[in-house]
Amino acid sequence: MIILDRQNGLFTLQTRNSTYQIKIGAHGVLLHSYYGPRVDGEDLSRLIRSADRGASVYPNDNGPDRTFSLDMLPQEYSSCGVSDFRLPSIEFEMPSGSRSADLRYTGFEVRRGKYAIQGLPAFWAADEAEADTLVLFMEDKTAQAAVELYYGVFEDCDLITRAVRVVNRGAETLRLCRCASLCLDFSHSDLDMITFNGRHLMERCPDRGPLRPGVQGVGSIRGTSSHQHNPFVVLCDPEANEDYGTAYGAVLVYSGSFEALAERNQFELSRLVMGINPYQFGWNLGPGEAFDAPEAALVCSPCGFGQMSRQFHKAIREHLIRDPYQGARRPILINNWEATTFNFNAEKLLSIAKEAAPLGLELFVMDDGWFGQRNDDNAGLGDWYVNTDKLPGGLEALVPQIQALGMKFGIWVEPEMVNEDSGLYREHPDWVLQVPGRAPCRGRGQLVLDFSRKDVRDHVYGQLRAMLSSADISYVKWDMNRSLSDVYSAALPRERQGEVFHRYVLGVYEMLEQMRSDFPGLFIEGCCGGGGRFDAGMLYYTPQIWCSDNTDAIDRLRIQYGTSFCYPPDAMGAHVSAVPNGSTGRTVPMETRGVVAMSGTFGYEMDLGETTQDEKNVIKEQVAQYKRCWELVQKGDYYRLTDPFRNPLFNAWEHVTPDRRCALVSVVTGTTYAAPAYMTLRLKGLDPALKYRVNGQDVYSGALLMSAGFPLPQPQDDYLAFQLLLEAE
Ligand code: GLA
Repeated sequence: MIILDRQNGLFTLQTRNSTYQIKIGAHGVLLHSYYGPRVDGEDLSRLIRSADRGASVYPNDNGPDRTFSLDMLPQEYSSCGVSDFRLPSIEFEMPSGSRSADLRYTGFEVRRGKYAIQGLPAFWAADEAEADTLVLFMEDKTAQAAVELYYGVFEDCDLITRAVRVVNRGAETLRLCRCASLCLDFSHSDLDMITFNGRHLMERCPDRGPLRPGVQGVGSIRGTSSHQHNPFVVLCDPEANEDYGTAYGAVLVYSGSFEALAERNQFELSRLVMGINPYQFGWNLGPGEAFDAPEAALVCSPCGFGQMSRQFHKAIREHLIRDPYQGARRPILINNWEATTFNFNAEKLLSIAKEAAPLGLELFVMDDGWFGQRNDDNAGLGDWYVNTDKLPGGLEALVPQIQALGMKFGIWVEPEMVNEDSGLYREHPDWVLQVPGRAPCRGRGQLVLDFSRKDVRDHVYGQLRAMLSSADISYVKWDMNRSLSDVYSAALPRERQGEVFHRYVLGVYEMLEQMRSDFPGLFIEGCCGGGGRFDAGMLYYTPQIWCSDNTDAIDRLRIQYGTSFCYPPDAMGAHVSAVPNGSTGRTVPMETRGVVAMSGTFGYEMDLGETTQDEKNVIKEQVAQYKRCWELVQKGDYYRLTDPFRNPLFNAWEHVTPDRRCALVSVVTGTTYAAPAYMTLRLKGLDPALKYRVNGQDVYSGALLMSAGFPLPQPQDDYLAFQLLLEAE
């Protein structure tokens, strides 16, 4: 709900559990009154203070009054170089060469429904009742620039989205040097910041610490959202935990280089700024042209991280993801990568599929190695036609054979990349990102195609479209296996080189959208060396993303735990793979691998020809269990019951139906030791008044299970797992 108070110049955005308020301040400066747990009917701008302090600077139109300094006033979208010395949100180079920005309010508009952003992913509302939009108009008179701040209010999900559009109203080019998607000021600084960090094979591990004086934060200059830092951060009360305290989550709906910075200043005020990374960024706006910054989205939970995550999950499931299966169960897949890597032919693939079909697996995914001269990772990328030495008769022959087994067919591609040893590169060596006069850096033996160029995209997409049209293909795994370097486009003039990073991302989005609209039933899974582009931007096009190349179930506990702070389990690609695990050398029981994988998008990635009959029986039971429980995983509320970074004894999590009548609890124990501690697991999210039958046997009340807990069996080996299915009587 958007509440207007014209008399006091207040805009209040109300969600079920949170309140966000903006005030039109003196001289048209937009002030941020409040964001936090819900407060009704209050003018929260009374909390704003500003005094005459030594060394402060104030706007000229303030006259002799020295109390109104932007440096201590909470800004809605901070200016640059005009008396606020904290993090700027926007900066433009005017024709004069000056780099500053002084924004003043000029008007507003309220619209039913949710705004969209041309060419960029964004949360959406199916109808006007699901969301409202507030637009605040600002201008910088000197720069002749209009800045529009967009707010989308999803009341039910406690989600507030933000977006920014800059329009050049002048007669000359205006160069945008920085344009954040989000600026969020707090009138206090006793906040902790949590970021989600890692590396290839260990993504999104939470790191928490108090805000220190000065600027701190995370970002990426890799052209991807990155394995190293996720474009999602949390600010919270120092004492906040899963169930207690105010927690603010901020996610950027963007897949390229980003920056998320928090600043604590001299007056114990703090600010979060998030958006495209200004590193090597510069966007030239011709007269009348507009620039859209990507969307950012906020959730404020008054009761800890658990609820914050569940609100993000709900919003991402219902208002971001566009899933061709729409509420139906996604197929359980088998992928050949860890089984074969590049060494396969049709016979080998069919042998895996023949083993998979009777076990109940439903989608066969042919991974890397099927095209061009792709026999290892030094050749072939760019040549998206079937290698008929490996697959005689092409997809036209292979796909019907897979389908005859009762399975759907999926395929791997890496459209953004090229190997020098490829037909595409030999024909178009000038199509890669490279600095004139300097040979480009390689990553995984490959170069990056210049996806900022339409001719390059069209050529690659033409090949992909022909391939996808040649057979009945249900699924695509869209991979992207290296960071961007040598970011220079031969197709753009010198003064536009600062646009290449962002134009590349826009190009990727455009091609994904094209593929979605040309092949409406197609399910696309995102991937980037595992989880290097696991972000809300990609989820708009690819409803699930391969969470990590690390399939070790014990490491996955950590990766999936960290990922769950923002992203729902049904977005996390998770597979059972063979042991000893290729990344860790660890051997984890098949049951445990299944429990961990079925807490994401369930699938297998192993040579089923090499599994024993006992293992096959376990797989059959896992498939049956997943078919019983899939709605809980795909649609249920998610509760983290333990922290795998802290609890060496066991880890547990829970999926609960929204009506709280059914729950799936999963437990994985740590390494065993003699005379073990007694372990009791207290559940969450149940109805205390209901009686639940556990695994079809004993009945316990919700109150007992949540308050007293459930005694866990004593493990007799390392890494055991079990699940409790709770059904209300
Ligand atoms: C990336 C992916 C893997 C696999 C390989 C193929 O690493 O994350 O799942 O597809 O590429 O080369």
